[in-house]
Amino acid sequence: MRISIASDHAGFDLKSALASASFLDEGVFSTETSDYPDYARIVCHKLLNGDIDFGILICGTGIGMSMAANRFKGIRAALCHTSQDALYARAHNNANILCLGARTQDVETAKEIVNVFLETPFEGGRHQRRIDKMDS
Ligand code: RB5
Repeated sequence: MRISIASDHAGFDLKSALASASFLDEGVFSTETSDYPDYARIVCHKLLNGDIDFGILICGTGIGMSMAANRFKGIRAALCHTSQDALYARAHNNANILCLGARTQDVETAKEIVNVFLETPFEGGRHQRRIDKMDS
């Protein structure tokens, strides 16, 4: 699985805590002020180009990143606060981007959410029909 991770300045510390050799780090690389739409765009373009399978986007609340990412057709970004959110985001919504809020959740919960998100398959079936309606 190819996975990109990116954040704005508010998400930098959580991104660093989640860092893994298997994630492509698309920035930011410091806590210097930055604009979350710029980093959402980088990851969404890579995903829509087929360069990656999943993205993880982090800002202060995860709200700005999810708004920015969901403007791209074909992106299904899910802001998750719990493992259960992550499970359903994948199983029912086939989410391809996970959004996290660095100011609204702790690191251990965020790690659990990432694991569940990446390990849960899409169930397809009736859920695919609903996703098709969002894309039409
Ligand atoms: C930055 O201060 C903050 O507004 C941003 O990280 C994010 O929470 C926006 O949704």
